[in-house]
Amino acid sequence: MSIVEAMDRPRRLRSPLLRPLVAGVDLSPRHLVLPLFVKEGGEPEEVPSMPGVFRHPLKALPRVGEEALKAGLGGVILFGVLPEAAKDPLGQGAYAEEGIVQRAIRLLKEELPGLLVMADTCLCEYTDHGHCGVVREGPSGFYVDNDATLELLAKTALSQAQAGADVVAPSAMMDGQVRAIREALDRGGFAHVPILSYAVKYASAFYGPFRDAAGSAPRFGDRAGYQMDPRAGLWDALREAHLDDLEGADLLMVKPALPYLDVLAALKGRFAKPLFAYQVSGEYAMLKAAGLKGWLDEGRAVLESLHALRRAGAQGILTYYALEAARWLREA
Ligand code: PBG
Repeated sequence: MSIVEAMDRPRRLRSPLLRPLVAGVDLSPRHLVLPLFVKEGGEPEEVPSMPGVFRHPLKALPRVGEEALKAGLGGVILFGVLPEAAKDPLGQGAYAEEGIVQRAIRLLKEELPGLLVMADTCLCEYTDHGHCGVVREGPSGFYVDNDATLELLAKTALSQAQAGADVVAPSAMMDGQVRAIREALDRGGFAHVPILSYAVKYASAFYGPFRDAAGSAPRFGDRAGYQMDPRAGLWDALREAHLDDLEGADLLMVKPALPYLDVLAALKGRFAKPLFAYQVSGEYAMLKAAGLKGWLDEGRAVLESLHALRRAGAQGILTYYALEAARWLREA
């Protein structure tokens, strides 16, 4: 019988008993990675533009890590928060043996060996100018020196691996950073440590609250000279992902997430590597603000967004909602 003779009825598959059987997209806490901001001491501080997200003092980390473990999350990823006085032009805090992230990794791996601990590998949280690399003066203003930065990123990743990081995650958008880090890890005896590459990372307004949280906003200029132009065609995303694939990334990430579902979908299946998406601080802030105002059912809106990312091709998702989402999934 053709559709001309009989009306097709998609609703036949939408009965309560059929819906779960034909649901093609699933989401579990194990798919989610929780970003954590860590500072030296003091009390936990709530980030003003990210209600519910805190800068944690070192001593509070094991408790949060334990929550992540109990919730069945895939892991956590660490970002360091430094006082301004501890920053310098070369971001030495990023690769110091006693750096904040290095100490946090050691603490978490000691207390919770079953927790997957990733480290964000970048310099902007540690440089006094707030850029992701070495800044120089050029004929038309400042620029970030790509190859001088590679060395510092490689040192940072190596020190994170030495501290016990299970995964390093370069986010500085320097050309060749994955290769430089892979070489440094291999030479240093860490051939087994995988790289989660922020391969496709746009110069996005959605990072605003993160820079607030980490105090990492650039003091002058912007990041458009190294992060991707949101107006660029898909070729730019394919080129970046392709390069990081060749350079030896183990996991490829797209960032931000929801505004770039098309990019995620375009990368899906093109690389023999798992794809990740980062639901960034601004995405969190939007959903949280609307939820707090009572304008959205926050739990449903968040789970819907996370399912959309899974459908578009994300294996794993970095999200500030990881713990809450795990709870909402349990309650659903
Ligand atoms: C470091 C880094 C940033 C984010 C992750 N790693 C900031 C930036 O690129 O400015 C943003 C994450 C978020 O907004 O949640 N370079």
